[in-house]
Amino acid sequence: MKKVLLSGIQPTGRPHIGNYFGAMKQWVDLQTSQPDTEKFFMIADYHALNFIQNNEELKQNILDVVLDYLAIGLDPKQSAIFKQSDVSAHTELAWIFDTITTMPYLMRAHAFKDAEVKNKEIGVGTFNYPMLMSADILLYDTTVVPVGQDQKQHIEYARDTAEKFNRIFGETFVLPEALIMKEVAVVPGTDGQKMSKSYGNTIPLFATDEEIRKAVMSIVTDSSGSIPKNVYEIHKLFRSTTELDVLYKEKSGKYKDLKDALIADISAFIKPLRERREEFAKNKDAVLAILKAGGEKAKAKAQAKIEVVREKIGVRLY
Ligand code: ADP
Ligand code: TRP
Repeated sequence: MKKVLLSGIQPTGRPHIGNYFGAMKQWVDLQTSQPDTEKFFMIADYHALNFIQNNEELKQNILDVVLDYLAIGLDPKQSAIFKQSDVSAHTELAWIFDTITTMPYLMRAHAFKDAEVKNKEIGVGTFNYPMLMSADILLYDTTVVPVGQDQKQHIEYARDTAEKFNRIFGETFVLPEALIMKEVAVVPGTDGQKMSKSYGNTIPLFATDEEIRKAVMSIVTDSSGSIPKNVYEIHKLFRSTTELDVLYKEKSGKYKDLKDALIADISAFIKPLRERREEFAKNKDAVLAILKAGGEKAKAKAQAKIEVVREKIGVRLY
Protein backbone atom coordinates (compact mmCIF):
# COMPACT_ATOMS: atom_id res chain seq x y z
CA MET A 1 0.00 0.00 0.00
CA LYS A 2 1.25 3.46 -0.85
CA LYS A 3 2.35 5.50 2.16
CA VAL A 4 0.70 8.87 2.53
CA LEU A 5 1.64 11.35 5.22
CA LEU A 6 -0.56 14.26 6.22
CA SER A 7 -0.38 16.72 9.07
CA GLY A 8 -1.10 20.33 9.82
CA ILE A 9 -1.55 23.06 12.35
CA GLN A 10 -4.12 25.75 12.85
CA PRO A 11 -3.23 29.33 11.95
CA THR A 12 -4.04 30.57 15.43
CA GLY A 13 -0.84 32.38 16.34
CA ARG A 14 2.91 32.05 16.40
CA PRO A 15 4.23 28.50 16.61
CA HIS A 16 6.42 27.63 19.58
CA ILE A 17 9.22 25.18 20.21
CA GLY A 18 6.64 22.68 21.54
CA ASN A 19 4.95 22.63 18.13
CA TYR A 20 8.31 22.33 16.47
CA PHE A 21 9.88 19.53 18.47
CA GLY A 22 6.55 17.77 19.07
CA ALA A 23 5.39 17.75 15.47
CA MET A 24 6.95 20.01 12.83
CA LYS A 25 10.51 18.77 13.14
CA GLN A 26 9.31 15.24 12.40
CA TRP A 27 7.68 16.50 9.23
CA VAL A 28 10.97 17.82 7.92
CA ASP A 29 12.87 14.71 9.02
CA LEU A 30 10.33 12.44 7.33
CA GLN A 31 10.45 14.53 4.18
CA THR A 32 14.10 13.52 3.87
CA SER A 33 13.92 9.98 5.21
CA GLN A 34 10.81 8.92 3.27
CA PRO A 35 11.19 10.25 -0.27
CA ASP A 36 8.68 7.72 -1.63
CA THR A 37 5.89 8.75 0.71
CA GLU A 38 3.32 11.18 -0.65
CA LYS A 39 3.25 14.19 1.70
CA PHE A 40 0.65 16.82 2.55
CA PHE A 41 1.13 19.67 5.00
CA MET A 42 -2.00 21.60 5.65
CA ILE A 43 -2.93 24.89 7.22
CA ALA A 44 -6.15 24.16 9.06
CA ASP A 45 -7.80 27.54 8.47
CA TYR A 46 -11.38 26.28 8.75
CA HIS A 47 -10.52 24.76 12.11
CA ALA A 48 -9.03 28.10 13.15
CA LEU A 49 -12.23 29.91 12.19
CA ASN A 50 -13.67 28.52 15.42
CA PHE A 51 -11.27 30.73 17.34
CA ILE A 52 -10.31 33.58 15.00
CA GLN A 53 -13.23 35.51 13.61
CA ASN A 54 -11.37 38.52 12.29
CA ASN A 55 -10.64 38.90 8.59
CA GLU A 56 -7.26 40.64 8.84
CA GLU A 57 -5.99 38.44 11.62
CA LEU A 58 -6.88 35.17 9.90
CA LYS A 59 -5.34 36.30 6.60
CA GLN A 60 -2.12 37.31 8.31
CA ASN A 61 -2.00 34.09 10.35
CA ILE A 62 -2.38 31.93 7.25
CA LEU A 63 0.49 33.72 5.51
CA ASP A 64 2.54 33.39 8.68
CA VAL A 65 2.09 29.62 8.80
CA VAL A 66 3.19 29.22 5.17
CA LEU A 67 6.33 31.18 6.06
CA ASP A 68 6.82 29.00 9.14
CA TYR A 69 6.49 25.85 7.03
CA LEU A 70 8.99 27.05 4.44
CA ALA A 71 11.42 28.33 7.06
CA ILE A 72 11.62 25.01 8.89
CA GLY A 73 12.45 23.30 5.60
CA LEU A 74 9.24 21.95 4.12
CA ASP A 75 9.88 21.85 0.42
CA PRO A 76 7.05 22.45 -2.05
CA LYS A 77 8.82 20.23 -4.57
CA GLN A 78 8.55 17.25 -2.24
CA SER A 79 5.38 18.05 -0.31
CA ALA A 80 2.06 19.70 -1.02
CA ILE A 81 1.73 22.74 1.23
CA PHE A 82 -1.89 23.86 1.17
CA LYS A 83 -4.71 25.40 3.08
CA GLN A 84 -7.82 23.48 4.00
CA SER A 85 -10.23 26.08 2.64
CA ASP A 86 -8.79 25.63 -0.87
CA VAL A 87 -10.16 22.10 -0.98
CA SER A 88 -13.90 22.21 -0.37
CA ALA A 89 -14.10 18.41 -0.23
CA HIS A 90 -12.90 18.71 3.39
CA THR A 91 -16.05 20.42 4.60
CA GLU A 92 -18.23 18.26 2.36
CA LEU A 93 -16.80 15.07 3.81
CA ALA A 94 -17.04 16.48 7.34
CA TRP A 95 -20.77 16.90 6.77
CA ILE A 96 -21.12 13.34 5.52
CA PHE A 97 -19.29 12.13 8.64
CA ASP A 98 -21.61 14.22 10.84
CA THR A 99 -24.51 12.19 9.53
CA ILE A 100 -23.02 8.88 10.69
CA THR A 101 -21.76 10.18 14.04
CA THR A 102 -23.61 10.49 17.32
CA MET A 103 -23.60 13.34 19.84
CA PRO A 104 -22.53 11.14 22.78
CA TYR A 105 -19.52 9.96 20.79
CA LEU A 106 -18.40 13.53 20.10
CA MET A 107 -19.09 14.45 23.72
CA ARG A 108 -16.20 12.20 24.71
CA ALA A 109 -13.69 14.49 22.95
CA HIS A 110 -11.19 16.24 25.25
CA ALA A 111 -11.98 19.66 23.80
CA PHE A 112 -15.67 19.18 24.51
CA LYS A 113 -15.04 17.94 28.04
CA ASP A 114 -12.69 20.84 28.78
CA ALA A 115 -15.33 23.31 27.65
CA GLU A 116 -17.91 21.53 29.79
CA VAL A 117 -15.70 21.60 32.90
CA LYS A 118 -15.15 25.32 32.37
CA ASN A 119 -18.89 25.78 31.90
CA LYS A 120 -18.22 27.33 28.50
CA GLU A 121 -20.85 27.23 25.79
CA ILE A 122 -19.10 25.19 23.11
CA GLY A 123 -19.57 26.28 19.47
CA VAL A 124 -21.02 23.79 17.00
CA GLY A 125 -17.84 24.05 14.91
CA THR A 126 -15.69 23.20 17.90
CA PHE A 127 -18.01 20.34 18.81
CA ASN A 128 -17.66 18.94 15.28
CA TYR A 129 -13.92 19.58 15.17
CA PRO A 130 -13.04 15.85 15.21
CA MET A 131 -15.21 15.22 12.13
CA LEU A 132 -13.52 17.95 10.07
CA MET A 133 -10.16 16.63 11.17
CA SER A 134 -11.21 13.08 10.24
CA ALA A 135 -12.16 14.38 6.81
CA ASP A 136 -8.76 16.13 6.47
CA ILE A 137 -6.99 12.87 7.09
CA LEU A 138 -9.23 10.32 5.37
CA LEU A 139 -9.68 12.25 2.11
CA TYR A 140 -6.07 11.54 1.13
CA ASP A 141 -5.92 7.83 2.07
CA THR A 142 -3.45 8.94 4.71
CA THR A 143 -1.48 6.17 6.38
CA VAL A 144 0.53 8.22 8.86
CA VAL A 145 -0.17 11.42 10.80
CA PRO A 146 2.84 12.86 12.67
CA VAL A 147 1.59 14.95 15.61
CA GLY A 148 2.14 15.66 19.31
CA GLN A 149 0.53 13.60 22.04
CA ASP A 150 -2.45 15.95 22.46
CA GLN A 151 -3.72 15.01 18.98
CA LYS A 152 -3.83 11.26 19.64
CA GLN A 153 -7.52 11.21 20.40
CA HIS A 154 -8.28 13.05 17.18
CA ILE A 155 -6.51 10.40 15.13
CA GLU A 156 -8.54 7.77 16.96
CA TYR A 157 -11.68 9.61 15.92
CA ALA A 158 -10.48 9.45 12.32
CA ARG A 159 -9.85 5.70 12.57
CA ASP A 160 -13.23 5.04 14.19
CA THR A 161 -14.99 7.17 11.61
CA ALA A 162 -13.24 5.38 8.73
CA GLU A 163 -14.28 2.02 10.19
CA LYS A 164 -17.85 3.11 10.70
CA PHE A 165 -18.17 4.48 7.16
CA ASN A 166 -16.58 1.33 5.72
CA ARG A 167 -19.02 -0.81 7.70
CA ILE A 168 -22.07 1.09 6.45
CA PHE A 169 -21.09 1.81 2.84
CA GLY A 170 -18.35 -0.72 2.08
CA GLU A 171 -14.55 -0.50 2.05
CA THR A 172 -13.64 3.12 1.22
CA PHE A 173 -11.19 4.60 3.69
CA VAL A 174 -7.71 3.62 4.83
CA LEU A 175 -7.15 3.53 8.61
CA PRO A 176 -4.48 6.10 9.55
CA GLU A 177 -1.87 5.71 12.28
CA ALA A 178 -0.67 8.50 14.57
CA LEU A 179 3.09 8.97 14.67
CA ILE A 180 4.09 10.41 18.04
CA MET A 181 7.71 10.72 19.13
CA LYS A 182 7.89 9.54 22.75
CA GLU A 183 10.66 11.85 24.03
CA VAL A 184 9.00 14.99 22.72
CA ALA A 185 5.35 13.95 22.90
CA VAL A 186 4.68 16.70 25.45
CA VAL A 187 7.22 19.53 25.48
CA PRO A 188 6.94 21.49 28.75
CA GLY A 189 6.50 25.26 28.80
CA THR A 190 8.17 27.90 30.98
CA ASP A 191 5.89 26.92 33.88
CA GLY A 192 6.51 23.16 33.58
CA GLN A 193 3.00 22.51 32.18
CA LYS A 194 2.55 21.46 28.54
CA MET A 195 3.79 24.30 26.33
CA SER A 196 0.72 25.76 24.64
CA LYS A 197 -0.36 28.96 22.93
CA SER A 198 -3.35 29.03 25.21
CA TYR A 199 -1.31 28.87 28.44
CA GLY A 200 1.02 31.80 27.75
CA ASN A 201 4.05 29.65 28.63
CA THR A 202 5.71 29.42 25.24
CA ILE A 203 9.06 30.10 23.67
CA PRO A 204 8.17 31.15 20.11
CA LEU A 205 9.95 29.20 17.39
CA PHE A 206 11.03 32.33 15.54
CA ALA A 207 11.61 34.43 18.64
CA THR A 208 14.02 37.36 18.66
CA ASP A 209 16.97 37.20 21.04
CA GLU A 210 15.14 39.53 23.38
CA GLU A 211 12.05 37.33 23.40
CA ILE A 212 14.18 34.26 24.05
CA ARG A 213 15.88 35.95 26.99
CA LYS A 214 12.57 37.06 28.45
CA ALA A 215 10.97 33.63 28.06
CA VAL A 216 13.92 31.76 29.57
CA MET A 217 14.16 34.20 32.48
CA SER A 218 10.51 33.49 33.20
CA ILE A 219 11.07 29.72 33.50
CA VAL A 220 9.80 28.75 36.91
CA THR A 221 12.54 27.29 39.12
CA ASP A 222 12.09 25.90 42.59
CA SER A 223 14.88 25.79 45.08
CA SER A 224 14.32 22.22 46.23
CA GLY A 225 17.17 20.64 44.26
CA SER A 226 20.41 21.69 42.62
CA ILE A 227 19.05 21.04 39.13
CA PRO A 228 16.34 23.44 37.94
CA LYS A 229 14.08 20.81 36.40
CA ASN A 230 12.07 23.09 34.12
CA VAL A 231 15.23 24.63 32.67
CA TYR A 232 16.81 21.21 32.16
CA GLU A 233 13.73 19.75 30.44
CA ILE A 234 13.72 22.53 27.83
CA HIS A 235 17.50 22.46 27.51
CA LYS A 236 17.30 18.75 26.59
CA LEU A 237 15.75 19.75 23.28
CA PHE A 238 18.92 21.56 22.26
CA ARG A 239 21.78 19.53 23.76
CA SER A 240 22.47 15.89 24.59
CA THR A 241 21.83 14.82 28.18
CA THR A 242 25.45 13.65 28.45
CA GLU A 243 26.66 17.20 27.76
CA LEU A 244 23.96 18.70 29.94
CA ASP A 245 24.74 16.47 32.90
CA VAL A 246 28.32 17.72 32.93
CA LEU A 247 27.18 21.34 32.63
CA TYR A 248 24.46 21.09 35.26
CA LYS A 249 26.86 19.43 37.69
CA GLU A 250 29.51 22.06 37.15
CA LYS A 251 26.97 24.87 37.58
CA SER A 252 25.08 23.16 40.36
CA GLY A 253 22.78 25.65 42.11
CA LYS A 254 23.78 28.48 39.73
CA TYR A 255 20.44 28.98 38.09
CA LYS A 256 21.36 32.25 36.40
CA ASP A 257 24.37 30.67 34.65
CA LEU A 258 22.29 27.71 33.53
CA LYS A 259 19.59 29.97 32.15
CA ASP A 260 22.25 31.99 30.31
CA ALA A 261 23.58 28.77 28.78
CA LEU A 262 20.08 27.84 27.69
CA ILE A 263 19.52 31.29 26.16
CA ALA A 264 22.75 30.93 24.16
CA ASP A 265 21.74 27.48 22.91
CA ILE A 266 18.21 28.49 21.91
CA SER A 267 19.45 31.67 20.21
CA ALA A 268 22.02 29.75 18.18
CA PHE A 269 19.36 27.28 17.12
CA ILE A 270 16.70 29.81 16.21
CA LYS A 271 18.86 32.38 14.41
CA PRO A 272 19.20 30.55 11.07
CA LEU A 273 15.51 29.60 11.13
CA ARG A 274 14.52 33.20 11.77
CA GLU A 275 16.77 34.42 8.96
CA ARG A 276 15.35 31.91 6.50
CA ARG A 277 11.88 33.05 7.44
CA GLU A 278 12.83 36.70 6.88
CA GLU A 279 14.13 35.79 3.41
CA PHE A 280 10.88 34.09 2.41
CA ALA A 281 8.85 36.97 3.86
CA LYS A 282 10.50 39.35 1.37
CA ASN A 283 8.71 37.62 -1.47
CA LYS A 284 5.07 37.36 -0.52
CA ASP A 285 3.87 36.70 -4.08
CA ALA A 286 6.12 33.67 -4.49
CA VAL A 287 4.95 32.33 -1.14
CA LEU A 288 1.30 32.72 -2.10
CA ALA A 289 2.01 30.98 -5.41
CA ILE A 290 3.45 28.01 -3.50
CA LEU A 291 0.32 27.82 -1.36
CA LYS A 292 -1.96 28.04 -4.39
CA ALA A 293 -0.07 25.33 -6.26
CA GLY A 294 -0.17 23.10 -3.19
CA GLY A 295 -3.94 23.61 -3.08
CA GLU A 296 -4.26 22.46 -6.69
CA LYS A 297 -2.25 19.34 -5.98
CA ALA A 298 -4.30 18.50 -2.89
CA LYS A 299 -7.55 19.26 -4.69
CA ALA A 300 -6.78 16.82 -7.49
CA LYS A 301 -6.44 13.95 -5.04
CA ALA A 302 -9.30 14.98 -2.74
CA GLN A 303 -11.72 15.50 -5.61
CA ALA A 304 -11.19 11.97 -6.91
CA LYS A 305 -11.83 10.59 -3.42
CA ILE A 306 -14.97 12.61 -2.78
CA GLU A 307 -16.41 11.28 -6.05
CA VAL A 308 -15.91 7.75 -4.74
CA VAL A 309 -17.60 8.74 -1.48
CA ARG A 310 -20.55 10.30 -3.32
CA GLU A 311 -20.88 7.11 -5.32
CA LYS A 312 -20.82 4.96 -2.18
CA ILE A 313 -23.45 6.93 -0.30
CA GLY A 314 -25.79 7.08 -3.30
CA VAL A 315 -25.89 10.71 -4.39
CA ARG A 316 -23.93 10.29 -7.61
CA LEU A 317 -26.51 9.83 -10.34
CA TYR A 318 -24.53 11.05 -13.37
P1 ADP B 1 -1.18 24.76 20.99
O1 ADP B 1 -1.51 23.83 22.13
O2 ADP B 1 -0.01 25.61 21.32
O3 ADP B 1 -2.36 25.55 20.51
P2 ADP B 1 -1.58 23.26 18.55
O4 ADP B 1 -2.81 22.64 19.08
O5 ADP B 1 -1.68 24.30 17.50
O6 ADP B 1 -0.71 23.83 19.78
O7 ADP B 1 -0.61 22.09 18.04
C1 ADP B 1 0.02 21.99 16.78
C2 ADP B 1 0.86 20.73 16.76
O8 ADP B 1 1.91 20.81 17.73
C3 ADP B 1 0.08 19.45 17.12
O9 ADP B 1 0.58 18.36 16.38
C4 ADP B 1 0.37 19.27 18.58
O10 ADP B 1 0.24 17.93 19.00
C5 ADP B 1 1.81 19.74 18.68
N1 ADP B 1 2.08 20.30 20.00
C6 ADP B 1 1.52 21.41 20.55
N2 ADP B 1 2.02 21.65 21.78
C7 ADP B 1 2.93 20.68 22.01
C8 ADP B 1 3.80 20.38 23.11
N3 ADP B 1 3.84 21.15 24.18
N4 ADP B 1 4.58 19.28 23.02
C9 ADP B 1 4.55 18.49 21.92
N5 ADP B 1 3.77 18.71 20.85
C10 ADP B 1 2.96 19.80 20.88
N1 TRP C 1 -6.04 19.56 15.30
C1 TRP C 1 -4.69 19.85 14.90
C2 TRP C 1 -4.05 20.78 15.96
O1 TRP C 1 -4.72 21.47 16.66
C3 TRP C 1 -4.64 20.53 13.55
C4 TRP C 1 -5.16 19.65 12.46
C5 TRP C 1 -6.30 19.84 11.75
C6 TRP C 1 -4.57 18.46 11.97
N2 TRP C 1 -6.48 18.85 10.84
C7 TRP C 1 -5.42 17.98 10.95
C8 TRP C 1 -3.41 17.76 12.32
C9 TRP C 1 -5.13 16.79 10.27
C10 TRP C 1 -3.13 16.57 11.63
C11 TRP C 1 -3.99 16.08 10.62
O2 TRP C 1 -2.87 20.81 16.03
